[in-house]
Amino acid sequence: MIAQALKWIGGIDGSLELIDQRLLPGEFVKLQCADVSQVYDAIKTLAVRGAPAIGVAGAYGLVLAVQKSTDTDLKQGLSILAEAKDHLASSRPTAVNLFWALDRVKKIAENFVSANPNASVQSFQERILEEANAICQEDIDMCRRIGENGEKFIKSGAGILTHCNAGALATAGQGTALSLMFEAQKKGKKFKVYADETRPLLQGSRLTVWELKQAGIDVTVLCDNMAGWLMKQGRIDAVITGADRIAANGDAANKIGTYSLSILAKENGIPFYIAAPSNTFDLSIKSGAEIPIEQRNADEVTTVGKVQVAPEGVNVYNPAFDITDAQNITAIITEKGVVEKPNVENISKHLKG
Ligand code: MRU
Repeated sequence: MIAQALKWIGGIDGSLELIDQRLLPGEFVKLQCADVSQVYDAIKTLAVRGAPAIGVAGAYGLVLAVQKSTDTDLKQGLSILAEAKDHLASSRPTAVNLFWALDRVKKIAENFVSANPNASVQSFQERILEEANAICQEDIDMCRRIGENGEKFIKSGAGILTHCNAGALATAGQGTALSLMFEAQKKGKKFKVYADETRPLLQGSRLTVWELKQAGIDVTVLCDNMAGWLMKQGRIDAVITGADRIAANGDAANKIGTYSLSILAKENGIPFYIAAPSNTFDLSIKSGAEIPIEQRNADEVTTVGKVQVAPEGVNVYNPAFDITDAQNITAIITEKGVVEKPNVENISKHLKG
């Protein structure tokens, strides 16, 4: 059974239910978010994480915000929504899916109010919920199609390396990179997955391994510094990861450590694939140099759980993401198909198609 990272419970007065990913794999606890600040905290502290999942959570955050609108003048609802959007947008800077979803819901709300200035507050709230549900459902469908489009890159008997978690926990559906694995498994292929533990927050060992084990896929956890040696031994046939934002030229932001893997893959002649829905592309920026990289707290590096692993007060560098150059990416797999040799021309053709 594939995990459901997030789910809306009820109607317009409902709430957002999340799997609290901070506690996995030790504890499986559901978190109920009943207002915008709870959604903000859940995104900021990585209770919900992964680019597509935080987009969907953001959209539902706006549904929670407009629950507070009571005034028959719908301009009040629009101003509550705009304030909540700015707040949610300040939670994490790198994954573009969050901004994409927030902008989409805001536009829908504005169009609704200008077309129906005398509509009831309830119908306004219903329209916002309808859009958030559509974003969620589209993500579920895109995840499945990404898997169907990319499973051909997983051959029977292959060794596949992945980094961080781009599985069901990172989306509303069955994931992006891991969706390829779930679809390959459906076709009866037998393969081995190596999951980088992904320091500092261990999304690989805690989440990817948890998901793949539940699905009955053969998975082995690695410390982040082991991948190169495995590649050199010929045990890795492909690297597959997700992405948080892809620039117009194909440069892709993903979890810190992805760039190094792409260099190792190139050096060892191994294909490097990125699996992501088309809303991960940010065509407003030319290259990866323009992607904002989130810097996180020092204690994520100096402690593991509650154990101190570096001396108190040491200088810490903790970027959450890095940029993989387009030239190191063999192909990007989206719900629309496969972009081989990603560059400005191939990406713009792919997204128009
Ligand atoms: O900091 P996180 O856990 O949100 O980072 C997530 C990743 O880097 C994923 O690989 C990316 O969001 C793609 S998820 C389908």
